[in-house]
Amino acid sequence: METVLVAGATGYMGRYLVSELHRRGYRVRVLVRSRERAEQSGEFGAPSLRGLVDEWVVADVGDASEIDGDLCHGVDRVVSALGVTRQRADPWDIDFRGNLRLLSLAEEAAVASFLYVNVMHVHEGTSMVMRSKAAFVEVLRRSAVTSQIVNPSGYFSDASEFVHMAHRGIAFELGAGAQRLNPIHGADLAEFCIDRLGRESGEWNVGGPDVYTFHEIVDLAFVAVGKRPRAVRVPVRVVRPVVWAADRLGPRASSLTRFFVEGLRRDSIGERTGTHHLDEHFDAVALSRRKA
Ligand SMILES: NC(=O)c1ccc[n+]([C@@H]2O[C@H](COP(=O)([O-])OP(=O)(O)OC[C@H]3O[C@@H](n4cnc5c(N)ncnc54)[C@H](OP(=O)(O)O)[C@@H]3O)[C@@H](O)[C@H]2O)c1
Repeated sequence: METVLVAGATGYMGRYLVSELHRRGYRVRVLVRSRERAEQSGEFGAPSLRGLVDEWVVADVGDASEIDGDLCHGVDRVVSALGVTRQRADPWDIDFRGNLRLLSLAEEAAVASFLYVNVMHVHEGTSMVMRSKAAFVEVLRRSAVTSQIVNPSGYFSDASEFVHMAHRGIAFELGAGAQRLNPIHGADLAEFCIDRLGRESGEWNVGGPDVYTFHEIVDLAFVAVGKRPRAVRVPVRVVRPVVWAADRLGPRASSLTRFFVEGLRRDSIGERTGTHHLDEHFDAVALSRRKA
């Protein structure tokens, strides 16, 4: 039975990765900041880690003094979904340096492989999040450790924001909302990732089974909440002044604005996989909103 260390295990993706590893009989060691939070259910239907974990390591990856040099001892493989999304942290400290710290310990312990949950189009992004990930991917590609780099399109979790907008009665789309993507459910992406453990080094762009335009996703969200679609088209020409202003507000505003704007301006379509459909996920999100 192999032991797999999962970093970022309390996140949307990390919870599904732990669940899938446990289901397949791996021994799972997790790196989390809070065991108590990990054992509660995650957002967007992501599972609790209660009963799925064999070894808990509680540490903040952003603080080098908290990371034990033995973290990867006894570990066969590392899976990282570690990153800054909603957390108030500098992506360079977590997405780059945090993952780099893990990789160094993985190399020292001569683990068999390191799988990294990345983002699609990482080398084209100008946000600090994308630059930090791109820098880490470059190091990982050159590492002696076998590396699997998985580049997902959007997650169902992030697409859920459209349901919240529809619930409020109005949604925003950039231009005609014509860019296309195939968002993926965490459970489907976890299966895809764990299927690749044990393979040779490689890199994969991956998404869910259905390709939509952003406009179609907005429509789906309004159907889920039972309201007539009302989308405001934000003209593409406002992008430059908005980014200009965000850059001057501070690093976090700049990175988030660039990340979202760039995401809305290009297609993000990966190999189609999985069985979960966005309309069903939106129905579940809308239902839980009604119950709340
Ligand atoms: N969301 C999307 O649509 C999307 C699409 C493609 C790729 N991705 C990428 O996929 C990865 C996972 O995304 P996600 O949606 O699962 O993100 P998430 O829910 O925010 O999970 C990120 C994980 O990283 C952990 N983390 C952050 N800072 C940490 C620190 N200082 N020390 C220890 N752990 C720390 C978080 O722990 P806490 O719970 O303690 O904060 C959490 O477990 C990210 O790198 C993201 O950029 C996301």
